[in-house]
Amino acid sequence: MRHLLAIQGLPPSAVTALLDLAESYVLLNRTGKTPRDRLRGRTLINLFFEDSTRTRTSFELAGKRLGADVITMTVATSSVNKGETLLDTAATLNAMNCDLLVVRHAVSGAPALLAQKVDAAVVNAGDGTHEHPTQALLDALTLRRRRGTLDNLVVAICGDVLHSRVARSNIHLLTALGARVRVVGPPTLIPPAVERLGVAVFHDMAAGLDGADVVMMLRLQQERMARGLVPSAREYFRFYGLDAAKLARARPGALVMHPGPMNRGVEIASEIADHPTQSVIREQVEMGVAVRMAVLDMLARAGGDA
Ligand code: CP
Repeated sequence: MRHLLAIQGLPPSAVTALLDLAESYVLLNRTGKTPRDRLRGRTLINLFFEDSTRTRTSFELAGKRLGADVITMTVATSSVNKGETLLDTAATLNAMNCDLLVVRHAVSGAPALLAQKVDAAVVNAGDGTHEHPTQALLDALTLRRRRGTLDNLVVAICGDVLHSRVARSNIHLLTALGARVRVVGPPTLIPPAVERLGVAVFHDMAAGLDGADVVMMLRLQQERMARGLVPSAREYFRFYGLDAAKLARARPGALVMHPGPMNRGVEIASEIADHPTQSVIREQVEMGVAVRMAVLDMLARAGGDA
């Protein structure tokens, strides 16, 4: 594995190896005994062209806990604002002998383009509506720790699937590891021909959640909507927002997930987001650090003996 650009095409054995390594980092993070010499002498640059809280912070923490020199570039105050292109920015960072480049960009395929141009290992931290591979890995780790296996787990991915790179990466990963995936949402927010990815489509929440083991809610990405695809946030919540009544259709004790950031009262009710036993949203964030440590570790090994 030279770069991590997508889940699509990654062999299940590689996914499992990453999850196994991440599992070991969960325990090391909890005890504060992370191997700070693992990436000593390596440089990690975070290059985020879109906003982020969880992904950017956890990559920064992951790099530091493994001993890398970590730089997080604030694009808003960089020379991108003076007209420098994405490729020139990447070539500039590459010339500083950066080993790992973590990129988030609004354009699908931008990290893959950079991967062809730089010597550093590139990690896709979310590109347009394409993929967000480390999110799917951390979601899988959360589920595997809670349920033991993903095989035959019924996972309902609900809401704005059309604009969701999280949904796309999760569909590829979950189906590859044997889960039965449903996508649930209004017809305007379900991608055309998504069934070809091996998922079942539902437009009714009650039917889509019926008997589900896991309910994964997605943020309504109004910033990516060129035109109104939902009538209003209030009406959207009424039909597609996860509240206690809708969750009752899922299996008793079904797990509730959300990649964040959440819009409370739009796609999820606060009482569900903060549910003491069923919500694993905070756990997802914790798993994010461990998964990103595993990804950085594996890529550094692939690029030379870190
Ligand atoms: N899930 C996720 O990507 O969150 P951020 O946008 O805060 O990184």
